[in-house]
Amino acid sequence: MEIRTALTYDDVLLVPQKSRIRSRKEVNVATRLSKNINLDIPLIPANMDTVTESQMAICMARLGSIGIIHRFCDIDYQVREVQKVKRRQNVVIEDPITISPQATLKQVKEKIAEFGFKSFLVSEDNKQLSGILTSRDMMFAKDDSTLVQDLMTAKNKLITASPGISITEAKEILISNKIEKLPIVDQAFHIKGLITATDIIKNYNSVSVSRDNKGRLLVGAAVGVGKDALERAKALVGAQVDVLVVDIAHGHSDHAIETIQKLKKLYPTIEIIAGNVATAQAAKDLIQVGADCIKIGIGPGSICTTRITTGFGVPQLTAILNITPVCKKYDIPCIADGGIKTSGDLVKALAAGADSVMMGGQFSGTEETPGPVLSYKGQQYKISRGMASLTAALSRPNATEKIDQVTPEGVEARVPYRGPARNVINKYIGGLRSGMSYANAMNIAELQTNAQFIRITHSGMIESNSHDNQVL
Ligand code: XMP
Repeated sequence: MEIRTALTYDDVLLVPQKSRIRSRKEVNVATRLSKNINLDIPLIPANMDTVTESQMAICMARLGSIGIIHRFCDIDYQVREVQKVKRRQNVVIEDPITISPQATLKQVKEKIAEFGFKSFLVSEDNKQLSGILTSRDMMFAKDDSTLVQDLMTAKNKLITASPGISITEAKEILISNKIEKLPIVDQAFHIKGLITATDIIKNYNSVSVSRDNKGRLLVGAAVGVGKDALERAKALVGAQVDVLVVDIAHGHSDHAIETIQKLKKLYPTIEIIAGNVATAQAAKDLIQVGADCIKIGIGPGSICTTRITTGFGVPQLTAILNITPVCKKYDIPCIADGGIKTSGDLVKALAAGADSVMMGGQFSGTEETPGPVLSYKGQQYKISRGMASLTAALSRPNATEKIDQVTPEGVEARVPYRGPARNVINKYIGGLRSGMSYANAMNIAELQTNAQFIRITHSGMIESNSHDNQVL
């Protein structure tokens, strides 16, 4: 048997090209996530339960990327996470959260903790508007048993607008009345939406936010291939998710192919990202049943042990180089998922043909990841874990395996608390822009055309890192 050599990021470098780029700012890093979804930046946080829930997804969409809500939770929880993203920074919130006039201040505080915003429309039956409760109304309330009806601004004092109002008109009403919320009601005072000043300011001041065609933040969600996949997908589509990720460890399987076929038949307009795979044939098989994007990566992840446990996998650079010609032939984008340690790796992944890169380890420990900040020996940490790790397997909804029956293909890790995820994006996109100037590339397509990889030796790798000094 001929045994081929396969390479990963550390085995290669890119050869510098004569460059016309005078400033890193000139470079355009926009990309395609899937067939019909564009992103301003090619960096996506992993759909892992220690990386992406609504907080991370909101942050990413605001920075021009997208978050994919993980599937390692029950369906209702995942749907709520999608809804939290969809309700943020809308121009018109079509289905605003309401609270009953008989609710107590304590219940309001619970809702604030659950949804992350501080104003609610008040309604008995979730239809008719009775008033509005904002943080201003609650400012001086001390007693947790106070009722919403005694705090709210009642219906007769409210300024409202009719469905179909333009954003410019809404803005004028908000400014001239010095109010922050404008409920939209029909003639019977039935709630039809809500416009907020913050959403208008954020939407119109920022150019690169990832939005759907109604101005809401983009968000994706993962489904598996098991019994609940179709039920989960139905609920997520109902919550107006923008893209589904059919995400299993071995994506080149009948199970995955059948799931994609069924989903495409049920929801022909929903974009589907499919993976994970590591061969050209796998990419072709998934594209032929309707995948709108291919997720590449078997075992390169920082918390993965699949290659050690099973003996299977393909070093990530070779996997990308093998798959991208198929994706380009069918005009389907691909994501290089896992194994990124530096912005240089990001540049190499894109140069090799990936349209975007997914990172777990590099986002783990950031403020927007789920889970608390822990303290250990005076340092602050968060927990990150592989989705096939022992604790992840045991904590899945409906898990039946006992501790000694689990064969983990991932590990749990303690990662230093890293502050806002925005810092990770800035560091990586800064490195990418710089890399593109070495490649004489104005955009990612040019980076791919101009890329010239060379293979390096172990000594070359040592030379590449800082060496022979005491790094401060
Ligand atoms: P990084 O290197 O960015 O990789 O942390 C993130 C990706 O790793 C994959 N993943 C796993 N792979 N066992 C595996 O073999 C696991 O338990 C596991 N959990 C996550 C996943 O593709 C993720 O995006």
